[in-house]
Amino acid sequence: MPDSFQFARPILHRFDPETAHELTLRALEANLVPPQPEVVEASLSTTLFGRRIAHPVGLAAGFDKNGRVFRRMYAQGFSFVEIGGVTPRPQVGNPRPRVHRLPEDGAVINRMGFPNEGADIVAGRVARMPSPGPLGVNLASNADAVDPAVDFVALVRRFAPLCDYLTLDISCPNTENGQVFLDPGALRDLLARLSELPFTDKRPTLVAKLSPDIDDARLEALIDVMLRGGVAGLVISNTTAQRPQLRGDGHWPGGLSGRPLFALSTEMLAKTARIVGGAVPLIGLGGIASGADAYAKIRSGASVVQLYTALIYAGPALVTRIKRELAVFLLRDGFAHVADAVGADLRGARGGIR
Ligand code: FNR
Repeated sequence: MPDSFQFARPILHRFDPETAHELTLRALEANLVPPQPEVVEASLSTTLFGRRIAHPVGLAAGFDKNGRVFRRMYAQGFSFVEIGGVTPRPQVGNPRPRVHRLPEDGAVINRMGFPNEGADIVAGRVARMPSPGPLGVNLASNADAVDPAVDFVALVRRFAPLCDYLTLDISCPNTENGQVFLDPGALRDLLARLSELPFTDKRPTLVAKLSPDIDDARLEALIDVMLRGGVAGLVISNTTAQRPQLRGDGHWPGGLSGRPLFALSTEMLAKTARIVGGAVPLIGLGGIASGADAYAKIRSGASVVQLYTALIYAGPALVTRIKRELAVFLLRDGFAHVADAVGADLRGARGGIR
């Protein structure tokens, strides 16, 4: 099958990243992007928070901030999708330019600061368009929130009935209060407030997303608070404020994503997996651009993976390639199911690809 992204990419990349992204979203909305072929591999089938998914590759937060195209992204090859970050009230985010491509590095630096249409509009959209697969909503407080915990409480109430899991983004480097809950005491209070929320239906599945820029002591303290506070999963990781081994121009302020984030985020994932010890599933992401990368995340403790930045350079055919490659690695190493490979590198088990 011809890969239409090979034609689209030179055109898209003539535009600044945000315009190119808007064009991509409009093409998806207009159903102009051909679907990816289905990859049926029994070994890839797994579960995400109790729901069966055909494979472990999901779309990361930030691509579909406003829930405009999430339904289309399952046909683009993802088994689950995380929309957002959404804040209670609409906000414009930081001044532009705030997203920069680093093509030499397969990377992006963004300092968007959660521009989004706000919870009312996004929730309305999600309520009108039932999701064909598991859906996560990435939550953040407004930049001018007096009490960011109040924002998270409002967001959880609003979105819990509409999705499969809610991600508390407590690791955004791009807004002033994006990191308030890296203080274990503040996080404990927030989780306590969330646990007191009355839900007539099932309780929401809360997961927390961390950056790779926190030190070991803080990581341990936060994980302790999260596990006691009912967090059901961890997303490792967000972008980094560090600038590891860049060929391109890394002077822009903001969070770095893509290939240079891979080593850092995978190390953080392995560290987290050791501390968590299987108590909750981990969603691994950061710089995944091949089946080998996805497999390495899984072997380092991720039950499922997500990606975003590599799509900007390789388009959705990459998702199909990752799944096929992943199935080959599982077969090679004698894992009947992807779940069997989770954390294999931490156990010092079979195989090894790097
Ligand atoms: C992001 N990311 C992100 N994460 C999040 O939790 N909430 C958000 O709103 C956003 N927004 C966002 C915008 C842009 C332009 C980028 C590039 C990234 C982070 C993203 O979900 C992911 O954690 C990192 O990008 C690392 O994965 P990749 O991109 O290297 O696969």
